[in-house]
Amino acid sequence: MSHKRVAILLSGGGSNMVSLVDSMTGAHPARACLVLSNDAQAGGLQKAADRGVPTAVVDHRPYKGDRPAFEAELIKPLLEAEPDIICLAGFMRVLTGDFVSQFQGRMLNIHPSLLPKYKGLHTHARALEAGDAEHGCTVHEVTAALDDGPILGQARVSVEPGDMPETLAARVLTWEHKLYPAVLRRFASGDKTPVLLS
Ligand code: GAR
Repeated sequence: MSHKRVAILLSGGGSNMVSLVDSMTGAHPARACLVLSNDAQAGGLQKAADRGVPTAVVDHRPYKGDRPAFEAELIKPLLEAEPDIICLAGFMRVLTGDFVSQFQGRMLNIHPSLLPKYKGLHTHARALEAGDAEHGCTVHEVTAALDDGPILGQARVSVEPGDMPETLAARVLTWEHKLYPAVLRRFASGDKTPVLLS
């Protein structure tokens, strides 16, 4: 059986990347082919290397103010890796519509809120400020609009009394680690039915 090839883009610690890579064993229809970061210091790079996944870095900083120039570099290692599926996993750069359209229908993102609520940053603080009883995370297909696109899965998480943004973020993250692998497994097998966890 030939596996679907998955490239994972990250900017930070890479705990979601780890959960994805570690899930792709045995009968799973996909395997990781590349972990790509915009930051050479991202902790996820070492974790990928430890797992035998090829890594690459394209620093966004020399391209300040010129997203297309950054993306022209970012796409090189990505195309070389010949991915079937691209997973954004804590990748903190906004991608242009031009870039996204090249991978439309095969690029996924995880976002730490119950979309369409709280697109963008500071999602946990915003959920607490709003007094929400429930919060969570969403995996969706990436389209040109930020944190938009068809929803492929959601995990709902209770907000507890005394929660701070950090405690809520940590609770949501444990669910991200269940949701993203479950969605990827289903998506890689050609099934876009949403995965709903709670
Ligand atoms: C995760 O909580 C992810 O949902 C969030 O960044 C964190 C990355 O953690 N992504 C975004 O906010 C995207 N806008 P990780 O590096 O440990 O996977």
